[in-house]
Amino acid sequence: MIEHKRKKLSVIGSGFVGSTCAHWAASQELADVMLLDINEGSAKGKALDLAQAAPVMNFNSLVSGTSQYKDIANSDVIIITAGMARKPGMSRDDLLKTNASIMKKVCQGIKEHAPQSIVIVVSNPLDAMAFVAKETLGFPANRVIGMAGILDSARFKTFIAEAANVSVEDVHAFVLGGHGDTMVPMPNHCSIGGAPLSSFLSKEKIESIIDRTRKGGAEIVGLLKTGSAYYAPAASAVQMATAILKNQHRVLPCAAFLQGEYGVKDLFLGVLCQLGGTGLEKVVELKLNSTEQSQLDNSVSAVKELVNTLKSMDY
Ligand code: LAC
Repeated sequence: MIEHKRKKLSVIGSGFVGSTCAHWAASQELADVMLLDINEGSAKGKALDLAQAAPVMNFNSLVSGTSQYKDIANSDVIIITAGMARKPGMSRDDLLKTNASIMKKVCQGIKEHAPQSIVIVVSNPLDAMAFVAKETLGFPANRVIGMAGILDSARFKTFIAEAANVSVEDVHAFVLGGHGDTMVPMPNHCSIGGAPLSSFLSKEKIESIIDRTRKGGAEIVGLLKTGSAYYAPAASAVQMATAILKNQHRVLPCAAFLQGEYGVKDLFLGVLCQLGGTGLEKVVELKLNSTEQSQLDNSVSAVKELVNTLKSMDY
C-alpha cells in the first residue's frame, strides 16, 4: 500500500542540538519536521533556512518553525532539547532546577497537543529530566525515553577506533548507567570486528579511554566555552527517532524508566533497550560481573540522589 502521509517529528528547542536534530532528520527524509522554540524568530528562521537547503541537498521533508504548541499536534515522535546548556566548570547537575521548570512547561504543552506521541528527552541532567518529563506527561514507560547511552557509546567507540587505528564502523561498544561522571563503559562487552578489545589495546590504554569517555561531554564544553556538544548528541537522538519511526527494533543504549530491571524501580537509567514503532519495546537485561554491578550501583545512587533533590524542589 502506498503511504500517503509522511511521519511527523517535532523538535522542542531550536538551539544547537535541536536545530541539528532537524538538520539530520530532514536531510535523511526521516519525517516532516516541526521546530518549536519560545523564541519564535529562532525556530522560524532556522526552519526556513533549512527548508531552503532542500533544493540544493535534494530532500523532500517539509521543515517548519513555530512557538505554538498547537503546531506539534499529530507528531509521531517529539525530541525535547529545550533547556540551558552547560558552561565551563558547570556540571550537568547544576542545571537541575532551571531545566526542570523548562521541561515541565514543555511537557504540559506536549500532553495537551500531542498526547499520543513518543517522547525522546535530550535535555540535561538527562536522567532527572526524563523523570520530570514522565511525571508531567503521565505517559506509559514505552513512550518516554532518554538519549544519553548512544552518545556516550559513540564517544567510547570514537576513542577506541582512533587508538586501535581501525574503522569506527567495526567497533561495537556501549555504555550503561546515568549520563554523568558515574556512567559505566563496558569494555568486556566491546569488540572490534568480533575480536576483543584486548587484541588491539593495552589495559592501560583501555582505562584511559574509559576515563576520557566519562569526561567526554566536559571535554567539549571546555573547548567550546560557550555551550556544549551538539553534532553527536543530535545524531544520537535522531538515531532513536529513526528506530521508532521506521519500526526498526534496534537494540541501543538509552535511558529507560526501569520497573525492577537490575533491581531498580521508578528511575531512568541507561540500559540496553529495544526501540521500535511503539517506542521502548523492551529492556534487555545483561548479566553483569561484580565490578560492572558495583559501578552500575554507584551510578544508580547518583541518579537517585539527583531525583531526590529534584523531588524536594519547587520547580
Ligand atoms: C554531552 C552533553 C550534551 O554529554 O550532556 O555532551
